This record gives sequence, structure tokens and C-alpha cells, in this order.
Amino acid sequence: MNTRFKKVEASDVALLQEISRKTFLETYAAQNTAENMQHYLDKDFGLESLLAQINNPDSGFHLVWLGDQPAGYLKVNTGLSQTEPNMEQGLEIERIYVLQEFQGMKIGQLLFEHSIAIARKAGKAYIWLGVWEENGKAIAFYQKNGFVQFGTHVFKLGGDEQTDFLMKLDLK
Ligand SMILES: CC(C)(COP(=O)(O)OP(=O)(O)OC[C@H]1O[C@@H](n2cnc3c(N)ncnc32)[C@H](O)[C@@H]1OP(=O)(O)O)[C@@H](O)C(=O)NCCC(=O)NCCS
Repeated sequence: MNTRFKKVEASDVALLQEISRKTFLETYAAQNTAENMQHYLDKDFGLESLLAQINNPDSGFHLVWLGDQPAGYLKVNTGLSQTEPNMEQGLEIERIYVLQEFQGMKIGQLLFEHSIAIARKAGKAYIWLGVWEENGKAIAFYQKNGFVQFGTHVFKLGGDEQTDFLMKLDLK
């Protein structure tokens, strides 16, 4: 499979916005109200917000390309950019998304392995993430990759407060 990774720069923001919105809608639109979805898309996937996230030195976006097509992306956080406190030794996978048409082709696996390489290079002790309790497909993917649940947190999608499972994989 002809795949390659690219760390997202400010000049890639339009492409990042497109793939972020598309994968988010594909994943969650069927189970959430249009109003809550729109609120999240406007807030987190606006160009200004995405640019600020790209320019944050404690966050990194990585696009994966299949041939000449963008197929998915990863967002990782370290330090104080993580969405939970007291995670100094951790790297958070905040987003890992593969476009529907490319799912099941091991691209998610490549993105996940890329995040491990980033974490190891940064000397992190573990990788962690939050996943919506109703996203059984992603939970199965993480369990298969050795993640175990260690807690929960609340994620706000518009006016809806949702429970995320917190999952962790030790690297040391
Ligand atoms: C979850 C996701 C990243 C997985 O990526 P993918 O490219 O579809 O998965 P892969 O092809 O890399 O599969 C890797 C392994 O996980 C397994 N897997 C993938 N989906 C699975 C599922 N629904 N149930 C069980 N195992 C699954 C595969 O069988 C494969 O294992 P194998 O090597 O033994 O065959 C992808 O489906 C996705 O983007 N989903 C929508 C977005 C999302 O929910 N993101 C997570 C937000 S927290």
C-alpha cells in the first residue's frame, strides 16, 4: 500500500478542515442531533480554531495519504494541551479518524503506530485517549491494540454531555 505521513502545517489548514468535518459527520451524525453536531463543527473545526491548534507546540496533526488521496488523520497532545490534568508522562490521541471509504484497510493501524513512534521519540511512558462509550467500533480497535480502560470523562457535544471511556496503553 502506497502510504505516507505529513505533519500538518498552517498552509494545510483548508485540507485539515475538510477531512476533520467529513470524518466527524460520518462518525457521529447518525447518533446525534444536527444542532449539536453543527455547534461542534463551528467551534472546533472553524479555520481560526484549527490554525490555533496547528500552531500549538504541544499539539500535532498528522495526515496520512494513500497515493494522492488524503485518507485519515491523527491529532496528538502532550503537556498541558492534553484534555485531562496530571498526564505529564503521557501522550494523548485526541483524534484518530479514517475516511469511511478507506476504513478496514489498516490505515487506522498505521495512524496508531505513528502515534506510538511519536510518543516513544518524546520519551513518554504511555498513550491514552477518550472514546465515546457508544463508539463500539473504535473501542474494539483500541482493545485489540492493548488499551485498557482506566476511567471516564465528560465530553460536551453542543448541549449534550456524553460519557467517554478513558483508555491507556503503557509503553514502558
Ligand atoms: C477506528 C478506526 C480509526 C480504525 O481504523 P481502520 O483503518 O478502519 O482499521 P484497520 O483497518 O487499521 O484495522 C486494524 C485492526 O483493528 C481491527 N478492527 C477495525 N475495526 C474493527 C471493529 N469494528 N471491530 C473489531 N476490530 C476492528 C481490524 O480487524 C484490524 O485487525 P487485524 O489486523 O487483526 O485485521 C476507523 O474505523 C475510524 O476512523 N472510525 C471512525 C472514527 C472514530 O471512531 N475514531 C475514533 C474516535 S475516538
